[in-house]
Amino acid sequence: MILKEMKNIEKNKVQKKRETFSSGIAVFFATLSSAVGLGNIWKFPSMVGTNGGGAFILVYLVAVLLVSLPVMISEFYIGRRSRRNTVGAFDKLNAPPFFKIVGYLGVISTSLILFFYSAVSGWVYSYLFKAIKGDFKELGSLTMDQATDKITKAFDTTIGGNISPMLWQLIPILFVTIIIIAGVKQGIEKVTKTSMPILFLLIIITCVIALSLDGASQGIDFLLKIDLSTITPSMVLAALGLAFFKLSIGVGTMITYGSYITDDNSMIGNAFKVMLSDTLVSITVGLAIFPAVFTFGLEPTEGPALLFNTIPLVFSRIPFGNLLIIIFFLLTSLAATMSMLSLVEVPVAFLIEEVNIKRKTAVIFIMSITAIVGVLTVHPQSILGNIKVLGLSFFDLFDYISSNILMPVTGLLIIIFVGYFTRKSDIYNELSNNHSLRNKWTIRIFYLLAKYLAPILILIVFLNSLGLLG
Ligand code: TRP
Repeated sequence: MILKEMKNIEKNKVQKKRETFSSGIAVFFATLSSAVGLGNIWKFPSMVGTNGGGAFILVYLVAVLLVSLPVMISEFYIGRRSRRNTVGAFDKLNAPPFFKIVGYLGVISTSLILFFYSAVSGWVYSYLFKAIKGDFKELGSLTMDQATDKITKAFDTTIGGNISPMLWQLIPILFVTIIIIAGVKQGIEKVTKTSMPILFLLIIITCVIALSLDGASQGIDFLLKIDLSTITPSMVLAALGLAFFKLSIGVGTMITYGSYITDDNSMIGNAFKVMLSDTLVSITVGLAIFPAVFTFGLEPTEGPALLFNTIPLVFSRIPFGNLLIIIFFLLTSLAATMSMLSLVEVPVAFLIEEVNIKRKTAVIFIMSITAIVGVLTVHPQSILGNIKVLGLSFFDLFDYISSNILMPVTGLLIIIFVGYFTRKSDIYNELSNNHSLRNKWTIRIFYLLAKYLAPILILIVFLNSLGLLG
């Protein structure tokens, strides 16, 4: 009894000190910086490439509008209404106890994503370093075959080398540790507010240069030509998975960031702006990559290697190419690091508020686990690197479990909680900032999507991914 009371007093202390972002712009950049990441630069172009171009983008846009956006708004709602971490939030909102599982699933899936996300971020940092050293300069003077051979080998050693990939993975981990320890305002807000504009500038520079290449029109055609016959169930599933991953939803990231949103912020407006800007970034990156791919006669279906092989290969052949490669990997490192911040903040906020651990200790704990588990499981040369579970390496397994299972399930539960276990008046009050915003109709549309269409779509796609719909 006394212990419980003491715990509550402690909890209240933590609650009083709870930080928020300081302005609408800060909220926008922080949430957008979570969304914009390797998903835009690494996953989006390669998935567009392997799934046939424009038609995939169309399906993706529909998935984002009808499914991801309502889930994102629901997460913001849960976060700001409760002002707690993902687990505490459901308690605070008097959810049936079952929903606490959503919070725990979020903590688990953000950790799983972190393990492989930090590995890929490590590769990006190592490519940035290679570019600065000038390693890619000579590619331009080789024949295309020789250059392709060389760059493929470079990729293999980067991900399969003995020690170096593990060391590279530690670099983003270290940066993120420092920023998250500094806190919500001094860390996340400061870094994202200064870095996001730089990131945009770098993306625009790359895109403008790429669009001046000979093959630009073919690249644009590929991105914008819509051939509806290429739409298949598996492509729809892939688009939905990407739509979840892209907007950082379905794992509690936006609940956690939502809990730091200021009271006067229009959360629906912010979600909309984040969705639009993020999609624009993806398409701009596509416009930077595909013209180059076509100019040099490469296949757009390279998959994940598109970023690591194609970028150095093609950019080394154009004027100022090496500088462009540096810019490209710099922007990718920035984007990856900022997305990692939002992944780490989920378990960190949980540990601070639910287990009463200090921020610094929580961050060091989570990042040490990420370093150890991530490094051991992700790299082929490490002790656990070659183990296959269900025919998948740990890298693919973590990606599969988080993207194809945990995200849709958690997203579904989040939206069901808002649609069926929350008072309608609470939703209207929260999303209209106690009726100071005139957005009744927008909320109404959101509510209908959240209650009926989005859950059904998520369920269908999820069951299909498990092979249960034949
Ligand atoms: N959205 C990021 C990207 O596109 C990745 C990311 C950050 C993420 N936080 C997340 C994905 C939370 C899923 C859940 O790269």
